[in-house]
Amino acid sequence: MSSHHQPHKTGIKPQFSPAAMQRVHELMSHFPKGKQKSALLSILHLAEEEFGGWLSVDTMDYVAEILNIKPIEVYEVATFYTMLNIEPVGKIVFEVCRTGPCMLVGSDQLIEHIEKRLNIKIGETTKDGMFTLKTAECLGACGYAPMLQCGKKFHEHLTPEKVDTIIDEYRKQFGN
Ligand code: FES
Repeated sequence: MSSHHQPHKTGIKPQFSPAAMQRVHELMSHFPKGKQKSALLSILHLAEEEFGGWLSVDTMDYVAEILNIKPIEVYEVATFYTMLNIEPVGKIVFEVCRTGPCMLVGSDQLIEHIEKRLNIKIGETTKDGMFTLKTAECLGACGYAPMLQCGKKFHEHLTPEKVDTIIDEYRKQFGN
């Protein structure tokens, strides 16, 4: 299980773009009045995409306001789902699966390798704001273990060498 830290406050009131706001209302419309809290998880994912990949307290308060629920209800959901980020993250977030099947074929060594290579520990972000390392529970790709998820992309059958190549490629693509 990954550890959870105190939520961060930025003091900036977020504002969904008109397109995102439309999507929010669409997500809410899937549920009957009074049950719109059910759209919360989807809206939080959307909020991450909109606001730099993570959920500040300000963002969570904003979502609570939109859904007309208590902020604490949003915090609870945001801290429960480890795939949601409640701290600032890098441009690239690696989520390395470390459940049984992945562990058996070397996810721990892989994590160690990434930690050394990026000079960060699990849950940390590189100083240049480029990479964040997280771990995850089974991501449903056990047949391709060991694996990591990065955004919507799965990187599978990993070895330390493959991870090095992936890191270099992301640096090339997203670095300055
Ligand atoms: S155990 Fe890693 S994807 Fe299932």
